[in-house]
This record gives sequence, structure tokens and C-alpha cells, in this order.
Amino acid sequence: MKTLIAYFSHIGENLQNNEIIVLEKGNTEVVAEKLAELTGGDLYRIEEEEPYPFSYDDCLRRSRREDENNEHPALKPGMRLNMDEYDTVYIGFPIWYRTYPRIVASFLDDYDFTGKTVRPFCTNDEGTFGISLLEMQSVLKGASFTDGLAIRGADVYNADERIAAFVK
Ligand SMILES: Cc1cc2nc3c(=O)[nH]c(=O)nc-3n(C[C@H](O)[C@H](O)[C@H](O)COP(=O)(O)O)c2cc1C
Repeated sequence: MKTLIAYFSHIGENLQNNEIIVLEKGNTEVVAEKLAELTGGDLYRIEEEEPYPFSYDDCLRRSRREDENNEHPALKPGMRLNMDEYDTVYIGFPIWYRTYPRIVASFLDDYDFTGKTVRPFCTNDEGTFGISLLEMQSVLKGASFTDGLAIRGADVYNADERIAAFVK
């Protein structure tokens, strides 16, 4: 059985150290690539059909609306995984509005995680999971969860030791 590293990472403006900046590469993507390197697992980017806006304010507005209406936006078609191949699934995301982006909720809807080991990781501006872990655990009832790894976005390039310790 194989390991999967599935992640979502926003392309565009982000909040870092309480400032709006444009990242060359998304923070969650940096951590996901490191995890793939260390585990030898397959890397999979969760992508939305209608891209989230580049602008932080517009993106925040859409994420609020999706959160408040419990919308699960459509995933980009044609990218389906064969989840049967994997027994360990790392799931990574930025924290948006205290939990994972709703496109990640759509991804969780789409697959059966029963019997799998789920290893959540996130990046954000505060280094915590917010309510995302509780939410994920309540949605993926048949999976077994390990501890998660939460990293501040500003620290992703200085987190090799924490990432390596998480993998062990
Ligand atoms: C729409 C939006 C909402 C965000 N909400 C929060 C938040 O509630 N708390 C927080 O600490 N950071 C928040 N952030 C910051 C991101 O979580 C942080 O920059 C993260 O590392 C981005 O990861 P990414 O580059 O992989 O998308 C938000 C960023 C965006 C774009």
C-alpha cells in the first residue's frame, strides 16, 4: 500500500505576519512537497473548478460565503484518484476562517477514507488548527487519525526538523 499527500494551497495573495503578501509558492505546498520527499508518497494537489480569487479580500469574501452557507464547491474534473491504493493519507490545507477551505470539504466528500490512517497538516498565520481537526474527524468517521502538524506560514522554510519528526 502507498502513501498519499493530498493538499490544497492558494495561488495569490495570502495573510502572513498579519500582512497581505503574494507568495511564489503556497505555504502548504512547500510542506506537502517536503512530506512527499520524506515519505516517498504520491503528491496530489486538490484543485477547484472555479479558481479562488487572487485577491486576499475577494478570496476571504468567497471563503466566508462558502463557510456560512456550507457550500462545497466543485472540484476540477478529470483529476480523480484511486484511493484504494493508499493506506496512509496526509491531508494538508491553509486555515481559512478558522477551518479548512471548503474545497477541501468537497475533496473529503468525494472519497471513502474508511480504514485509512489520516495525518492532517496545515499552515496559517497563527500556527494552530482552529476547528479544522474536530471538523475533519467528525466527517471522516471511519478513518484513524494521528496527531496533526500545524506550521505558521512564515516558518515553512525553517520547519524541516518538525516535518521530519512528524513523519517518523
Ligand atoms: C481567504 C484566506 C483566509 C485566511 N484566514 C486565516 C485565518 O483565519 N487565520 C490565520 O491564521 N490565517 C489565515 N489565512 C492565512 C493563511 O492560512 C496562511 O497564509 C497559509 O499559510 C496560506 O497557505 P497557502 O499558501 O498554502 O494557501 C487566510 C488566508 C486566506 C487567503
